[in-house]
Amino acid sequence: MPLDLPRVIGHRGTPKRAPENSLAGFALAAEAGVTWVELDVQLSADLVPLVYHDHYLQRISDGVGHTIELNWDYLRERDIGVKFSPEFAGQKIPHWDEVLDLLVERRLGVNIEIKADDPRGAITAEIGLEHALAKWPADLAPPLVTSFSRIAIETSRDAAPAWPRGLVAHALPEDWREFCARTGCATIHISHESLTQEQVKAIKDAGYAVLSYTVNELELAEKLWGWGVDSVFSDRPELLLG
Ligand code: G3P
Ligand code: MG
Repeated sequence: MPLDLPRVIGHRGTPKRAPENSLAGFALAAEAGVTWVELDVQLSADLVPLVYHDHYLQRISDGVGHTIELNWDYLRERDIGVKFSPEFAGQKIPHWDEVLDLLVERRLGVNIEIKADDPRGAITAEIGLEHALAKWPADLAPPLVTSFSRIAIETSRDAAPAWPRGLVAHALPEDWREFCARTGCATIHISHESLTQEQVKAIKDAGYAVLSYTVNELELAEKLWGWGVDSVFSDRPELLLG
């Protein structure tokens, strides 16, 4: 199935309306007409795959500590809703399998970001993709697998060779042509804060799709689309969808 990207991808769901990377947020995104979401897969200390962005618990959960040093038994009980709004109290850090079930049920496309520093990118991609491959149906667009971790991208090439993959970076790295060719990337994801029109042209001319994050204003999205950017990640996907 060819990579058919939407112009707008919900960044961690729809995080202005519901807690980021939560089951409630992914469901709300689907209900609002968002067709693809981006999310962050990482591992607990005991190697359970879960969906959560930060390395630390403090910002959005009721816990403390470093996710990769804590076991799933502790992480699974962490409330990620109450700090967002009392209305979302009881939302827990989701297991990756729970999110996969919801995505499949809602027929949502997904950009799986493997969230780990190297060298943990390898095992995070291995386990995260093993779970995704077990649940993803053949009649849904294959997930797009991305990471800042180069080891995670290399691992995803071996673990899910038929699924498209991409490199994420704040700024376009000097060796992007060599790295993306060697690892068979389909996409390159760059922060709008550093991306230039010339870079978009060079990346597109080289045959890759260009995605940019995190774009929360329509004017900025329109400028990027005008440059040839294929998709933008947004905290306000409904706004950009019009
Ligand atoms: O892939 C786009 C974006 O999600 C990358 O940054 O920190 O939000 O995971 P971050
Ligand atoms: Mg992310």
